[in-house]
Amino acid sequence: LSVKKELEKILITAPSHEFEHTKKDLDGFRKLFHRFLQEKGPSVDWGKIQRPPEDSIQPYEKIKARGLPDNISSVLNKLVVVKLNGGLGTSMGCKGPKSLIGVRNENTFLDLTVQQIEHLNKTYNTDVPLVLMNSFNTDEDTKKILQKYSHCRVKIYTFNQSRYPRINKESLLPVAKDVSYSGENTEAWYPPGHGDIYASFYNSGLLDTFIGEGKEYIFVSNIDNLGATVDLYILNHLMNPPNGKPCEFVMEVTNKTRADVKGGTLTQYEGKLRLVEIAQVPKAHVDEFKSVSKFKIFNTNNLWISLAAVKRLQEQNAIDMEIIVNPKTLDGGLNVIQLETAVGAAIKSFENSLGINVPRSRFLPVKTTSDLLLVMSNLYSLNAGSLTMSEKREFPTVPLVKLGSSFTKVQDYLRRFESIPDMLELDHLTVSGDVTFGKNVSLKGTVIIIANHGDRIDIPPGAVLENKIVSGNLRI
Ligand code: UTP
Repeated sequence: LSVKKELEKILITAPSHEFEHTKKDLDGFRKLFHRFLQEKGPSVDWGKIQRPPEDSIQPYEKIKARGLPDNISSVLNKLVVVKLNGGLGTSMGCKGPKSLIGVRNENTFLDLTVQQIEHLNKTYNTDVPLVLMNSFNTDEDTKKILQKYSHCRVKIYTFNQSRYPRINKESLLPVAKDVSYSGENTEAWYPPGHGDIYASFYNSGLLDTFIGEGKEYIFVSNIDNLGATVDLYILNHLMNPPNGKPCEFVMEVTNKTRADVKGGTLTQYEGKLRLVEIAQVPKAHVDEFKSVSKFKIFNTNNLWISLAAVKRLQEQNAIDMEIIVNPKTLDGGLNVIQLETAVGAAIKSFENSLGINVPRSRFLPVKTTSDLLLVMSNLYSLNAGSLTMSEKREFPTVPLVKLGSSFTKVQDYLRRFESIPDMLELDHLTVSGDVTFGKNVSLKGTVIIIANHGDRIDIPPGAVLENKIVSGNLRI
């Protein structure tokens, strides 16, 4: 009850032009918070979790084998591409939207996305639009940049996800005292995770607009996943279902490696496909959850969702996503929680959902500067906004790269490489401490470079390091 009062107090501070959407946001928050208070105990019963049946996760090769119809353009014209663009570049030491970080030849995540869709539209003479789901953190900067694409053959739309109040962990009351989100209040608000897409897309009116234009599916993905390109075979499979039964939701999954054991996995639960995240798993079963043999795949967050189904379920208030409680400590030391949801968790609410086990190349996320080093290197080549693994690499796997904390911020990382080393024959790179790389360095096999505290290692221009450990004062 006291939360309700606090929220009302916040709402009356909204200027008239912000009143309606603030009210919608706070109403949405109130419902989520109410659910949070009511829910007791774990969100899944481990005993009910089963391995998904054979045909519910299909190999990509099988989908591809169906080929493409002659009318692929008309199929493409029923598609809308949505990129999740609510996140900031903070974890890579950047200010502003993550999508505006340069990742390859001066191109940002957003540039590459626009190039990919423009290429698609030019090749097939289509009109596939791009929609960005922004948050209050990214909207202004993103919109400023969009002018840059006004001459591109891609119509770009944006909508804003909700803005929810952070809650004091002790009192369970909002930290914010009014609606503003600058100055003292900067940390009082948060975007409530990408699960917010269903309500925000619906509320923005864009869902209805696209349905009115004859669009049928959205392809949703993380903007920082450079492998998330429009796949014509999956699209065709959706538009021309083999058994005539339309599939409302496809989750692209891919095989786990040791590095991905914490990713959410698809399970069978009460007769439906369900995404289970590690946070939902009771401690005693975490090893079983991580097992690569029991749950072989994880969610890439590349999702294909029926627009009509989103509309139906949203209107029935029937999209059910587990609440993720995310604890944070604010700059001043205050402990807060924020309640979030994840887009893939809604799979269980849709009819006839399907997992498709796609090649690893469709999951190329850039979360750290170590990932950035890989995508900037000659391991990949860039083609119309898409990165493909270089044919010159002999093994199909990507090297394991671990750059130390002196490389965490993009600016520091860039400063430490005069040019990006040749990595075609690299298997494993670990770098720690104050290390810099001169021009045209080649890294092969396993290379470990460790500058101890107080030391500095400068790899000279043109150096070839093959199966080498460089440390302390040991210079090449
Ligand atoms: P994150 O980068 O925050 O999540 O967001 P993650 O840990 O890699 O992966 P998930 O959450 O398990 O999938 C992934 C994408 O979602 C967007 C980010 O901008 C990024 O593209 N995002 C995240 C939003 O648009 N809104 C949010 O509230 C959170």
